[in-house]
Amino acid sequence: MARSDLLLSIVRAGAAGDQAALRSSVEAVVADERNKNHNVLADRLQRALNTVAVTSPVRTVPSSHAGRDTILETEPRQRLEDLILPLPVTHQVGQLVEEQHRADLLRAHGMQPRHRVLLSGPPGNGKTSIAEAIAEALAVQFFTVRYDALVGSYLGETNTRLARLFDYARTVPCVLFFDEFDSIGKERGDIHETGEIKRVVSFLLMQIDQLPSYVVTVAATNHAELLDRAVWRRFQLRLSLPQPSRDALATFLDRQFALWPDNPRIRPETVATKLGSISFAEALEFCQTIRRQHILSLGARSIRDILREQIEFWATRVRIDELDAARSEQTVPSS
Ligand SMILES: Nc1ncnc2c1ncn2[C@@H]1O[C@H](COP(=O)(O)OP(=O)(O)OP(=O)(O)O)[C@@H](O)[C@H]1O
Ligand SMILES: [Mg+2]
Repeated sequence: MARSDLLLSIVRAGAAGDQAALRSSVEAVVADERNKNHNVLADRLQRALNTVAVTSPVRTVPSSHAGRDTILETEPRQRLEDLILPLPVTHQVGQLVEEQHRADLLRAHGMQPRHRVLLSGPPGNGKTSIAEAIAEALAVQFFTVRYDALVGSYLGETNTRLARLFDYARTVPCVLFFDEFDSIGKERGDIHETGEIKRVVSFLLMQIDQLPSYVVTVAATNHAELLDRAVWRRFQLRLSLPQPSRDALATFLDRQFALWPDNPRIRPETVATKLGSISFAEALEFCQTIRRQHILSLGARSIRDILREQIEFWATRVRIDELDAARSEQTVPSS
């Protein structure tokens, strides 16, 4: 990397408190100086570098605890390999993980890994799961923002808490997850909104912009259309998680059937067709119901029979899309 770029990345890393970036850029200068046989300078730089605390993604514990009450910390367990995702989503999430894993190489060339992801799609198709799986793949902490603890009733209080939240998050490599992002990042032209909310949204976006690249921000929404354009722009990856196709559903069912003690001897594709357009979460519930009934029957009923019965029940269930349609009919003004 050109010397001017290296200097720039050192200043940027220092200003952002990004110790990993600082370390890798200074190491590049040390190597460069050694190449030129400037060993005295290289040694002095190396000694100065040794005084910078090393932050290891796994071992670091956040030092500042203010702001912790607005975050739910969980141990990420979900694995990317266990999710069935549209191919472009798998590829792009894989790229993000690789960029984060090999961030030192990118930083040595004056680049930062991508670290802002927006996930959109109907409920139950893997938004929360992907956010958690990214944390699992990177072996970093998974922080979910708690809006209930964030929103204060006094003027300016929310921004103070937001500032503390971000101060806490930037102390450690992590995935910072904003679920139901539309509830805060809505189109700002909304007539119900007050100046206070606008200030909170602007402040939030500014804080997200300023996060170091070892904090991966993931925002999820069921209503991408409600998001402000300024919000969209912030996110380097914008991934859509639609309802699964029949094939994707069949793959999911196949994996679930494999967990059962008996093979139901019905093709997963056939079951997928009968279930129609449903989310992965609903398909999971469907499979778990069958398994529960099978356990309770103590072997008196075959899993195949229970599966067939549940498919019939499934056809008669109340469906959310029908409820939505009925609701919108009721709200159509009569002429
Ligand atoms: N793409 C997927 N592949 C495999 N399993 C999935 C997938 N999506 C969802 N699931 C299953 O459904 C469960 C619920 O999914 P998840 O909570 O990630 O959905 P979501 O999109 O965050 O929903 P919501 O909008 O309601 O928050 C997961 O725990 C997982 O078991
Ligand atoms: Mg979710």
